[in-house]
Amino acid sequence: MIKYTPAFLKKLEDILTESAYTVRYERGNFQSGWCLLERKSVVVLNKFLDTEGRINTLADIIPQLAVNFDKLTHESQILYEFLLQEAGAANTGNTAETQLNLNNMSNLSVTKKDWGTINDQQVSIYELNNGTVKVFVSNYGGTIQSIEAPDKNGRIHNIVAGYHTAEEYRDDNDYYLGALVGRYANRIADGKFTIAGESYTLPVNNGPNSLHGGIDGFHRKVWEVTGQQETATEASVTMEYTSKDGEEGYPGNLQVQVTYALSVENKLKIQYRATTDKATPVSLTNHSYFNLNGFEDVVTGHELKINAESYTKKNENNVPAGELEFLDKDHPLYFGEFTKLEKNIDQFAEDRGFDHNYVLTMQPFQQLLEAAELRDPQSGRYLKVYTDQPGLQIYTANWFDGSRKGTHSKPYGKYDAIALETQAFPNSPNVPAFPNSILQPGEEYSSTTVYEIGVE
Ligand code: BGC
Repeated sequence: MIKYTPAFLKKLEDILTESAYTVRYERGNFQSGWCLLERKSVVVLNKFLDTEGRINTLADIIPQLAVNFDKLTHESQILYEFLLQEAGAANTGNTAETQLNLNNMSNLSVTKKDWGTINDQQVSIYELNNGTVKVFVSNYGGTIQSIEAPDKNGRIHNIVAGYHTAEEYRDDNDYYLGALVGRYANRIADGKFTIAGESYTLPVNNGPNSLHGGIDGFHRKVWEVTGQQETATEASVTMEYTSKDGEEGYPGNLQVQVTYALSVENKLKIQYRATTDKATPVSLTNHSYFNLNGFEDVVTGHELKINAESYTKKNENNVPAGELEFLDKDHPLYFGEFTKLEKNIDQFAEDRGFDHNYVLTMQPFQQLLEAAELRDPQSGRYLKVYTDQPGLQIYTANWFDGSRKGTHSKPYGKYDAIALETQAFPNSPNVPAFPNSILQPGEEYSSTTVYEIGVE
């Protein structure tokens, strides 16, 4: 018999919250404890309204699930048992069937390969494989080097820009291919900000501004791999890096942990955590450039939809100063409905294409918002991006100039790919009206982005 101790319930709740599970109540039946657990949506709710309008947490309702086990739908029973097993508890019955379903789900592996030496430090590349999609991620710069995924005809292509060797990443300090960007993704105006009356100056590396963490950002560091895991639902690798007080001009020793987890549902979840001993700006993102036709063609034929009604308008120095601009249907940056990138990409002479930060429309009670969907009619592949961050920068590789060849047959050129970067708004440390991006000692920075890859 399982004991529903608070610690056990907390663990179960964590699993549900961290995995891509939704618990949906069949409202009318809630009071008798019926509910349906669904393993299909990434939108994770951890607060539920019951029929009386009261807010319940998972811990409130799990015991009711147990009591009413017999009344649960078949699917819910199996999933419930599976969750219990994941939480380290014994089964309550139905073992054979639970096992059967788990077997179907557990085609997951993590494999480590040596990737040479950078600055006298050995670096590795980790292959996360779920039997359909393979993600290669390195502890050099936390870089996503490759994502191999099938198209509608089952043909496998690498859908992100990347290089073969770690040295090529070291020698390229302005494309940020697949990079883990930090301490602060995007621009900080004039490389300056003030926290609690203290002014800080960062080395500038992009016109007058500091871009993507500075000259020697997180994407050029060797991260320490602290975990590698294969569970029934995901394969993951965790890495950590301590950014010293004063590194690239930023205050505070910042301890950062990042986990890359590939699920059975072809969702690549990136979870960032950080703590500091002095107040400091933090915004971490991944800078993968996607081309859903595997770089057989430019991305201008891709269709994009973004869940945003405005973007952060930029000033003459290419940074937002606080003004948001509403995006009506005629605006060239409007992606409220699926729109081909080619429709308006020519309208931004200065940027040479799209390079803009969207203000995502958040929903109450949703931890992760479906921020954007990119789809490619040619290959049938789609990419959905979910995040808990307020902003999404889209950048269509406007300055790729055909001089650098990576893992694809042709050197990377203009519009060969699109980056979809989930982040705090650019320049937030200087714009009090923007959502806070300053991490305080004693707080934890925690952020999740999910890239879901599929075909239709
Ligand atoms: C920025 C671009 C920049 C690029 C660097 C993007 O995130 O928005 O302005 O040129 O990174 O490769």
